[in-house]
Amino acid sequence: ISNQALINKKVLVTAAGTIEAIDPVRYIGNRSSGKMGYAIAKQAALLGASVVLVSGPSYLPKPEGVTLIKIENALEMREMVLKEYKDADIIIKAAAVADYRPRTVEENKIKKNEERLILQLEKNPDILQELGQLKEKNQILVGFAAETQDLIKYAKDKIQRKNLDMIVANDVSLPGAGFNIDTNIAKIIYKDGKIENLDKMSKDELACLILDKIINKYYNVS
Ligand code: PMT
Repeated sequence: ISNQALINKKVLVTAAGTIEAIDPVRYIGNRSSGKMGYAIAKQAALLGASVVLVSGPSYLPKPEGVTLIKIENALEMREMVLKEYKDADIIIKAAAVADYRPRTVEENKIKKNEERLILQLEKNPDILQELGQLKEKNQILVGFAAETQDLIKYAKDKIQRKNLDMIVANDVSLPGAGFNIDTNIAKIIYKDGKIENLDKMSKDELACLILDKIINKYYNVS
């Protein structure tokens, strides 16, 4: 792949987990560090793309040459992604978006007066599914699937339901794969059902590979 293979292309990447406030000091979160998404954003910039990275909270530094938009919750991520996707050529959603948020955010810190506290949750919009509906012919939409069982079955279902071109499926229960580590073990699944099984590798290497596959398959460049 030429090091300018993505010149004149806009790549939109999402990364890290969203956090959903319960009260001013507490939130519901997940274990995503942002490592996978930041690696993709960094690599896309190295390939010459104009890169926008929409990220939940992460301690990682902004990759060089990337425009970083920081958000906290799923609704904010949706708003920024919908703003940025329109002129994007490639959209890669590595973020771990919270599926639910507390129905109400308490204005004041909740006191520990009750023995049991019931938190009501409301479903968040599925941003990837929305993008799948809005997608134009020339846009390439890549999702991730984080599963702990039936990886291929659920990932294939997500490709269809969310109208994706490709999905990167990781079994996050495997040692060396998934959340908050430097390596990942993934399967790349295309919309025609073809599956490529990848070995354990660093997230930087996997980021290169994902972009290589996209470039070779959709832009016919090598
Ligand atoms: O950040 P790291 O610590 O490096 O960890 C990397 C990772 C494990 C988070 C990453 O490799 C990964 O698998 N990301 C997707 C996590 C996830 O939420 O998967 P999912 O199967 O629940 O969601 C499927 C897809 O829909 C994802 O592309 C997700 O971004 C998207 N989604 C999900 C819910 C929602 N409300 N909106 C979405 O857009």
